[in-house]
Amino acid sequence: MRLAVGVLLCSAVSIAAGSWHPWGDLHTAPPSDRSTLLQGAGLPAQARAVLVTKCADCHSETTVWPAYTRFAPGSWLIERDVAEGRRHLDLSQWQRLSADRQEVLKQEIAQQAKRGSMPPMQYRWLHPGAALTKDEIAALTSLLPADAGGSGPGDAVRGKALFERRCTGCHALDSNREGPRLRGVFGRQAGSASGFSYSSALRERHVAWDSAGLERWLCDPDELVPGNNMDFSVPKSQERADIVAFLASLR
Ligand code: HEC
Ligand code: HEC
Repeated sequence: MRLAVGVLLCSAVSIAAGSWHPWGDLHTAPPSDRSTLLQGAGLPAQARAVLVTKCADCHSETTVWPAYTRFAPGSWLIERDVAEGRRHLDLSQWQRLSADRQEVLKQEIAQQAKRGSMPPMQYRWLHPGAALTKDEIAALTSLLPADAGGSGPGDAVRGKALFERRCTGCHALDSNREGPRLRGVFGRQAGSASGFSYSSALRERHVAWDSAGLERWLCDPDELVPGNNMDFSVPKSQERADIVAFLASLR
């Protein structure tokens, strides 16, 4: 009898607590109509299908909330993922983003798919079959622009414009943001900007950045420094050369 009362009380508290939403109420979205997601975005059909079926629960306003998402404290963890996921990438808002922002996000998506870090582990536990298949990973990595190959010397003026369009979502020259400050990065020891919390992989690299290192980092950070935290790359060699020239010109 006591046990039954205890269980009842616990469930009542869990349901009541589940109606408290520490990250704001995320259930206000319009009815789940995923056909509107990424409409007219010009993505290949396969890539769009993967994003809509495997990513939209956290990265759009069309989240499906199964019954278990109403029970605290689990509900708080799930809502935190959805709030964070939407903040980074909201497929419901895609059409409102600038072309540059869309380009950056496509590259972040491809990078996450290649790394196998999305969908997150806890989601794969709750949704068997949510992990990306080989074909689905290929569909998402196809979002990276093709490299025409070959490049002339880097041009710092073009590099500055590219930096502003592609990098300033995470980096500033003189302050740490999602990425470390980059003024003076050329010639600086990797992972050494004070006050920035680097991955241990980059912090322990102990190599100063030069043109060749920066070029390889921008081409594929995971290949140069496995375990790093930068979810971005610059697939086109001419663009890499231009950006490196800009970073080298900074005083
Ligand atoms: C369980 C919810 C969830 C699902 C499902 C999910 N994500 Fe995420 N995603 C997150 C959260 C939380 C973040 C922000 C924190 C982080 O980077 O881990 C994030 C961040 C991202 C970012 C931004 C990374 C950055 O560095 O800013 C990209 C890109 C991304 N996810 C792509 C995807 C793709 C592609 C899928 C589907 C294959 C997917 N996600 C599925 C929760 C999710
Ligand atoms: C999605 C966010 C994001 C974008 C976009 C991004 N970076 Fe980063 N960058 C990071 C993070 C996070 C780190 C730290 C990585 C670590 O600790 O492993 C980093 C590290 C770096 C470093 C190493 C700095 C050091 O102190 O060792 C360089 C160089 C760099 N980024 C250049 C760039 C350039 C150039 C661009 C644009 C082409 C760019 N990044 C775009 C997030 C980003």
